[in-house]
Amino acid sequence: MSQENIFTLYEKLPTNLKQINPFLDRVFDQLAAHIKDAEQLFKVKLALEEALTNAMRHGNGLKASRKVTVRIAWGDGQIHLDVSDEGKGFNPRTVPDPTQIGYAENIPGGRGIFLMQKMMDRVEFYDGGRGIRMVKKIL
Ligand SMILES: Nc1ncnc2c1ncn2[C@@H]1O[C@H](COP(=O)(O)OP(=O)(O)OP(=O)(O)O)[C@@H](O)[C@H]1O
Ligand SMILES: [Mg+2]
Repeated sequence: MSQENIFTLYEKLPTNLKQINPFLDRVFDQLAAHIKDAEQLFKVKLALEEALTNAMRHGNGLKASRKVTVRIAWGDGQIHLDVSDEGKGFNPRTVPDPTQIGYAENIPGGRGIFLMQKMMDRVEFYDGGRGIRMVKKIL
């Protein structure tokens, strides 16, 4: 990032699905002071919610002692999200695409990664799927 970040956050959350929404509300209240486009901000919130849920559920296996590391940086008209867990990772290429013909329309789940890709400009996994980085331009 060329400019200094206006907002940064670094937190290690214990694995607890109930803590996701209070965390998101607190962080996005702060971000709303910097980012005036509420619709774009809402999309970022949704993407972060999916990433945190995946990290806790699939990554950390809902074990409270395992942590999820969250980094957020806003500056230069871009928001960066980074979420990593302490699980075994996975291969994102083996996850079926929910928009493909033949994907069961009525099965719950399997839509989080798709949603994150829709909400953000760039989504990439690292560290064998234990980490996910996302970027979105917000003018
Ligand atoms: N952090 C992670 N660690 C390990 N596996 C993961 C991780 N994130 C995603 N996965 C794998 O990728 C699959 C797809 O994730 P995705 O979020 O798209 O769907 P889901 O979590 O199964 O359902 P939902 O629609 O509720 O998000 C998961 O079922 C899981 O197998
Ligand atoms: Mg998910």
